[in-house]
Amino acid sequence: MATRQGISRAAVWKQIQSLRTKGYEIESSTRKGYRLAKFHDPLDADMICEGLRTKWLGKDLRCFDEVCSTNDVARSVARECRNGTVILAETQTQGRGRLSRPWASPPGGIWMSLVLKPKISLDRAYRINMAVSVAVSRSMCALYGLDVGIKWPNDLLIGGRKVCGILMEISAEVDRVDWAVVGLGINANIDVMGFSVDWRATSLRQELCQDVSRIDLIQRLLLEIEGTYHRMHSRDLYEEWRRRSVTLGKQVRITSASGDLSGEAIDLAEDGALLIRAEDKIKRVLAGDCIHLRAPGEA
Ligand code: BTN
Repeated sequence: MATRQGISRAAVWKQIQSLRTKGYEIESSTRKGYRLAKFHDPLDADMICEGLRTKWLGKDLRCFDEVCSTNDVARSVARECRNGTVILAETQTQGRGRLSRPWASPPGGIWMSLVLKPKISLDRAYRINMAVSVAVSRSMCALYGLDVGIKWPNDLLIGGRKVCGILMEISAEVDRVDWAVVGLGINANIDVMGFSVDWRATSLRQELCQDVSRIDLIQRLLLEIEGTYHRMHSRDLYEEWRRRSVTLGKQVRITSASGDLSGEAIDLAEDGALLIRAEDKIKRVLAGDCIHLRAPGEA
């Protein structure tokens, strides 16, 4: 190793020690050298930034071992930090999902929040969700060949099971968004067996039967998000969001503040609304909790 790198053995040993302090399990053998004993993929800001090809997203990237919620950390710095600041944590003690549901956040997942400062009015903010969910779907398809669909409004599913959830929180005046914190919870290298069956969750580990490099995935995600964010108002992005939808054509039940509504999801409008045919009427739903109802005989 030392000869190949053109450095001394002591320098190699120093590097190995530094990797060990970052949690890598490295075996050493007097004649053979060093061997990585177990796949380990710690969230290291330097390693993420090294291969990051974005222009502005993630240029301030902060990794923590444990936080209550990356969205809370992001919110607390949102006003003063730069656009595109990223907060990551190995675990969250109080991860939050939509509708204040708890979000299980064990080590091995990607629990990440982005601080975005788009110059848009509040009524265009749903476009951020569109941009991020399209970017997540694209990244997983490009890196792992997985078919990742978007369940309205912005869950990411593989084979009907949730692999990623998005929680966007906004501070705004009526005519101007001050900041948006977009939290992504990605079940990467985790076991979802212990999760409640109601969650119908999956993970990349489960789908691929192996662990993925979270660093590669984070770099790809940030690059894709930067790209879709820049064209968030385009017809093109809306069409891609619609194409990647797995809600269209499904029987759904929407629960919102105005009650429950069941019917067939027949279209997605450019303003992000879901159009539902219920009792021969077409209804528009802008927000709510969506459940895909299983057709008779469906597993
Ligand atoms: C949902 O589908 O209900 C949204 C889940 C969002 C979870 C992520 S994990 C990172 C960020 N921090 C949180 O507390 N929540 C989001």
